[in-house]
Amino acid sequence: MRNLCEKAYITTPIYYVNDVAHIGHAYTTIIADSVARYSRLVGLETFFLTGTDEHGQKIEEAAKIRGRNTKEYTDEISGKFKALWDEFGISYDKFIRTTDEDHKIGVQKAFETMYEKGDIYKDEYVGNYCISCESFFTDTQLVDNVCCPDCGKETSVVREESYFFKLSKYEDRLLKWYEEKEKSVIPKGKKNEVEAFVKQGLRDLSITRTSFEWGVKIPEKLEDPKHVVYVWLDALMNYLTAIDFEKNGENMQFWPANVHIVGKDILRFHAIYWPAFLMSLDLPLPKHIAAHGWWTRNGEKMSKSKGNVVDPREVANAYGLDNFRYFLLREVPFGQDGDFSQRALIGRINGELSNDLGNLLNRIIGMSGKYFDFQMSSKDVSKFHQAELDKADKILESLEELVYNMQLHRYLEELWKVLAIANQSITKYEPWAKMKSGDEGEAMALVALVANLLAKVTVMLAPVMPEVSSKIASSLGFEVNPKTYNELIDENKILDSFKITKIAPLFPKVEEELLVEKKVVKAEPKKEEEPDNIITIDKFFETKIKIGRVIETSEVPKSKKLLLLQVDLGEEKPRQIVAGIKEFYKAEELVDTQVCVVANLKPAKIMKIKSEGMILAVRDENGLSLIRPETKKTVGSLVS
Ligand code: MSP
Repeated sequence: MRNLCEKAYITTPIYYVNDVAHIGHAYTTIIADSVARYSRLVGLETFFLTGTDEHGQKIEEAAKIRGRNTKEYTDEISGKFKALWDEFGISYDKFIRTTDEDHKIGVQKAFETMYEKGDIYKDEYVGNYCISCESFFTDTQLVDNVCCPDCGKETSVVREESYFFKLSKYEDRLLKWYEEKEKSVIPKGKKNEVEAFVKQGLRDLSITRTSFEWGVKIPEKLEDPKHVVYVWLDALMNYLTAIDFEKNGENMQFWPANVHIVGKDILRFHAIYWPAFLMSLDLPLPKHIAAHGWWTRNGEKMSKSKGNVVDPREVANAYGLDNFRYFLLREVPFGQDGDFSQRALIGRINGELSNDLGNLLNRIIGMSGKYFDFQMSSKDVSKFHQAELDKADKILESLEELVYNMQLHRYLEELWKVLAIANQSITKYEPWAKMKSGDEGEAMALVALVANLLAKVTVMLAPVMPEVSSKIASSLGFEVNPKTYNELIDENKILDSFKITKIAPLFPKVEEELLVEKKVVKAEPKKEEEPDNIITIDKFFETKIKIGRVIETSEVPKSKKLLLLQVDLGEEKPRQIVAGIKEFYKAEELVDTQVCVVANLKPAKIMKIKSEGMILAVRDENGLSLIRPETKKTVGSLVS
């Protein structure tokens, strides 16, 4: 069953450039990337959009605090987002920036259209404004009479001349839309919240600001140059300007979007304001607006100001990008919050990925090599195993609906049921016994069945784990593409004859946490004028870095990464230090070399061994190097 149209338009939110990406951002992007890859796989002409949201007071201030020119600052942070997505192989078709010229023209065009329609009027606004959320709140919405209900920061009373959008006019049409289109907003619980909010009554929306300049000016025609467009109108319009709304270009054929994937914190803007703007522009509404939950650390939303962010690059580098993608999508049901933990990630790698998926491939490689010199034929699969094939195909047919309902955790769960059929078939039919009793044909049928089940899973896994899937596919002698999707999934076919190639195990077991946890400290409320990454010299000298000499080294039992060093810091006794450097240094080559040691670090236990300091090192894509003095220095000297 297809609930798809010929074209697919999939979007992420555009990211604010006042912060670097954390796993919350990576989550939204990876979900959208998986859906886009799925759409391409099933043969749809797909347009996948992401980008950065660069206007508004918040960004202007972030640049000012850092003493930076606003444009240069936004160029830098936007570039960092783009570089990360490129590094992650995110398959976007366009990376939009709200500072792009054609975007600005598109925003002005929309403003003018709505104005001419009579949906925009000028008045004065008095309200409680939260700079951080770029949002106004009524007195009753405030927490403790002054704080923003969304982010908790203090709001300020703003009185300014403003243009208003007649949001109230669209209340009934919005309610009708929610009622008629069951899946307009997903999940259902979130849709109920939106409907309840609209039912309370909508007030017209202030859509221009005069208190700052960093934004899109309203159309010249209105002869009111001090007004810039409210960032949310500016930002939401990216979904249209990215497909050439300003010149009504060919890509407008992608409209309406199939799905806008957003976090729950920005659902109101997408499920209320955005459709109302579109109604005003006489454009069709998106098919789905899908709101996911938050990734938390110890129950708190991740954010830089809370000092509890997890860097997605670090996680992907340590555990593998595809494993990380799998974890993000499998761990948390869409719409719910999830707490990030390395333990949970390791559990999924060692369990589902290594045991169920990786081992299955290893067994296929092993059996096909041992019994059939890697040359497989599916000739008798139907004869002996039609029931297993039917069962698997039935599961695979049910997957599409799950994708467009954003039930990606269920999608993966179902795929693993097919792997279970494969794994159980080996146990049940024992190909080695068949070989022993001379039933070579039956053994071939069994191994070919299992390889075909894995091939089908591999095709469907490609949107979530593209790299792993392409490795498995090439080991099974085929390629994942819309053609093989069509044959193996849509037409329930199997691979004809195929040659298996041996490859190294895909999911070596992870024995210990690979990232050193940064202590989660609540950030002190900071003074607005101070850049958040600047410390005083006194603060720096609180860290005592000393020169030490390694006098003895040994391996830490059962650890692939750790070495135990005895380091002389010129104190009474040498320090015992556990360091994660074994992959880069042999224990013996360190003896009698100098290192820099953080000497006043609170001792910690690593793999049950007390560690009394930290060795300084630097790591990049080329590996790890210890930081050492250029020439020999007296042991115990302080680094300054
Ligand atoms: N610029 C606006 C979006 C405009 S779209 C027209 C914005 N940007 S954001 O950078 O603050 O957030 C972008 C997305 O990241 C949102 O969907 C948000 O929900 C998501 N996340 C930010 N922190 C998050 C977590 N801790 N967990 C999961 N996702 C969260 O809002």
